[in-house]
Amino acid sequence: MSTDIALAVIGGTGLYRLAELQDVQTHEPATRFGAPSGPVRVGTLAGRRVAFLARHGEGHSVPPHKVNYRANLAALQALGAGRVLALNTVGGVTERFGPRVLACPDQLIDYTWGRVSTICEEEGSEVLHVDFGDPYTPSLRQAVIAAARAANVALVEGGCYGATQGPRLETKAEIARLRRDGCDLVGMTGMPEAGLARELGLDYACLAIVANWAAGAGPDVDEIITLDDVLANVAAASDGVPALIGALLSADG
Ligand code: HPA
Repeated sequence: MSTDIALAVIGGTGLYRLAELQDVQTHEPATRFGAPSGPVRVGTLAGRRVAFLARHGEGHSVPPHKVNYRANLAALQALGAGRVLALNTVGGVTERFGPRVLACPDQLIDYTWGRVSTICEEEGSEVLHVDFGDPYTPSLRQAVIAAARAANVALVEGGCYGATQGPRLETKAEIARLRRDGCDLVGMTGMPEAGLARELGLDYACLAIVANWAAGAGPDVDEIITLDDVLANVAAASDGVPALIGALLSADG
């Protein structure tokens, strides 16, 4: 069933609905990879069809290492989506990426393990070695950056996302290592999602929402990261997200 979706949005921690969607229909697609994290809500935004899926389920019940990333992406693709904007709640590792910053990273490093990270596991399926030098689709990244400018939403353009296993947060030493490696942001869901999107032929970009300073980063190196702070910062930083998405859709003409 294809409904010609202009954009699919995957919401992360603290982002379980896109309240601006109008005339919402709910789909519960089964895929060849199993069930997605929850229902896909398809509605209208800025006059275009948009699909929304909460990565961790609408009740935030699926931890990062248990998310069925393949089913989530395949479900959105089956509904007719060709491009995906991934909203990822992250910690800030380097100076420009403090709490409440929105960022559109251009690189990533994968530190996750034990997750199903390819669609090529089925018996007899062809092994894919997709190009992943630029893990986010450059044209979609440029469209996101242009949309942020058009909507007057502050956005850090670029940065390297370090994908960690979780669900626990990192040690200070782990964050220091990520910083040495060149990471600016740290989150638990950036991979394998981006790699699977590439294998599936989906355009994919990340809109990272900084919820906290990562362990040992920021002005107070001993600050304890609490879920309340994370959720408050995500809520505040997400204010501009609907306008950015609206501008992204309007720019398509
Ligand atoms: N580390 C990893 N993932 C996160 C963080 C963090 O500090 N904050 C939000 N998601």
